[in-house]
Amino acid sequence: MHLRCSDPTCAATLDLHDRALSCEVCADLLEVVVDGVVSTPSALKHMWLQRRCSYSPLDTSGVWRFREFLPNSYSTVVTMSEGNNPLVKGQRTGEWAGLRNLSFKHLGWNPTACFKDLGMTTGMTEAVFVGAKAVGCASTGNTAASLAAYAARAGLAAKVYLPAGQVSHNKLAQALDFGAEVVQVEGSFDLALERLLGATNHDLYFLNSINPFRLEGQKTVMFEMLEQLGWQAPDYVVVSGGNLGNTSAFGKALVELQAAGLLDRIPRLIVVQAEGANPFARMWRSGASELVPVEHPETVATAIRIGNPRSWKKALRAVRFTSGCVMEVTDEEIAEAKALIGRDGIGCEPASATTLAALRKLTAQGQIDRDAIVVAILTGHALKDTDFILKSQRLEQTVAGEVYS
Ligand code: F0G
Repeated sequence: MHLRCSDPTCAATLDLHDRALSCEVCADLLEVVVDGVVSTPSALKHMWLQRRCSYSPLDTSGVWRFREFLPNSYSTVVTMSEGNNPLVKGQRTGEWAGLRNLSFKHLGWNPTACFKDLGMTTGMTEAVFVGAKAVGCASTGNTAASLAAYAARAGLAAKVYLPAGQVSHNKLAQALDFGAEVVQVEGSFDLALERLLGATNHDLYFLNSINPFRLEGQKTVMFEMLEQLGWQAPDYVVVSGGNLGNTSAFGKALVELQAAGLLDRIPRLIVVQAEGANPFARMWRSGASELVPVEHPETVATAIRIGNPRSWKKALRAVRFTSGCVMEVTDEEIAEAKALIGRDGIGCEPASATTLAALRKLTAQGQIDRDAIVVAILTGHALKDTDFILKSQRLEQTVAGEVYS
């Protein structure tokens, strides 16, 4: 395996463990090239299933279980049995969105309650391999919490740059609990990321999703989803888009799965942004060839309050490869969909609820058939943003055994 520029017209190559974050020739982002998978599709499927009966640390991880498709020659792997996230059938939510076959893949049911852990296990493992002593990221909250936890497991120092006053208390508390040094930046996530990139010295290993090793872990969501569906692809996979790392990772997974003969057909990726932080959706709608950043992103879904997503080129290739689309939903639609997911006994954070909000719109417009098989990705747990719930839901008071509202 090696690193390669993600722009196919450049395709410059680097050693797998080179610490560069972008191509020295054209400045585009890098990606890991997976090669050397020699097993047949049926042998791979059998082996991956067998590993579910094993208690070895690598096999209990829903990421490393698929290690044939990951950089995998490590003697130390930083893992907390992440992944293994179920597909949960949408009941009331399915009815509400007008869908008979809606499932949620709940990535909020991970060690730090977010999908970030899937990429952090691979990213932190690489950080240890290259001898990093400290790791860092800019974050709207979840990456910070996950990085802090995995750094603590690895015995590395963690430094996180957060947009001051714009991160949910729950996520901030996690980062502090796991012992990260927190730098609050006056301004948006985009500015925090710029600050970090500007401040980075060679001692700080950088773990935002522009790090290609992060995406390797995140791509296993598609492997696990297909396994759970008996290796029959759904019609649609719906995911929220912020910095667009997840979208890029899912696209990469689908390309690799198809090349390996593990995909019967390509599911369409639907990427959903919040209306106030919608540079990718705008670009898609206008057909522009370059992304124009949103200067002052604003949305109740603070996890995706991002105006200048770094992985947009990779994400665009992913959406095109799957004949998918990009769309946006309003804050009101997010709040309504989030409440519905709660009422279905599942729960998620606001950013994740963009998926259900989008699906309701698409079925109402007749763009998705009622019988379509749809997997909506829930990226974070309901407890990630309890302030949002307490602000938006009616609180009843119990006095001496009687309930007043
Ligand atoms: N959902 C949640 C809950 C997130 O935390 C994020 C991103 C996204 C969706 C969007 O994912 O960036 O891969 O498109 N959170 C990052 C963070 C930016 O810092 O925690 P993406």
